[in-house]
Amino acid sequence: MTDRISVLFVCLGNICRSPSAEGVFRALVEESGLDDRIEIDSCGTGHWHIGKAPDARATQAARKRGIDISRLRARQFAADDLEAFDYVLVMDHQNLAEVSEVWHRTGGTRPALFLSYGQSTHEEVPDPYYGGDEGFELVLDLIHEAGEGLLAKIRERLA
Ligand code: 4NP
Repeated sequence: MTDRISVLFVCLGNICRSPSAEGVFRALVEESGLDDRIEIDSCGTGHWHIGKAPDARATQAARKRGIDISRLRARQFAADDLEAFDYVLVMDHQNLAEVSEVWHRTGGTRPALFLSYGQSTHEEVPDPYYGGDEGFELVLDLIHEAGEGLLAKIRERLA
């Protein structure tokens, strides 16, 4: 049993998948009334997009589902995040390898694939950056489903 839980979503650029995950999961948490007990953030392993708003395609796809991610700004993953967050949830195996390399040196929260909380056969949230709009829809479908599984787990810990 615990009072508060913090969740960090990690992808490569922090402009497509992880800000989408942050927005979708925040909406689920708000619906559940647990928003004062669950802290949510996102970041990327890469540095290229630091300070930038999410990709316009991600913002548009989320908006169609009633979720506003336009005010999020990209930041880079840092070793301290493994101390600061209770859950460090990555989108794909490349993210997992990069964050795990840090975790092996520093300890803290062990990173996990976000979709391990989902029911689908997908292990990874596929990178939509170089593809078409349908990739962004798949991202939202996958993270919504995994988000529900994650929230159910967190709910047990907060009970
Ligand atoms: P994300 O997508 O990791 O879901 O934010 C990407 C964004 C940018 C790049 C790659 C993936 N990039 O190579 O710049």
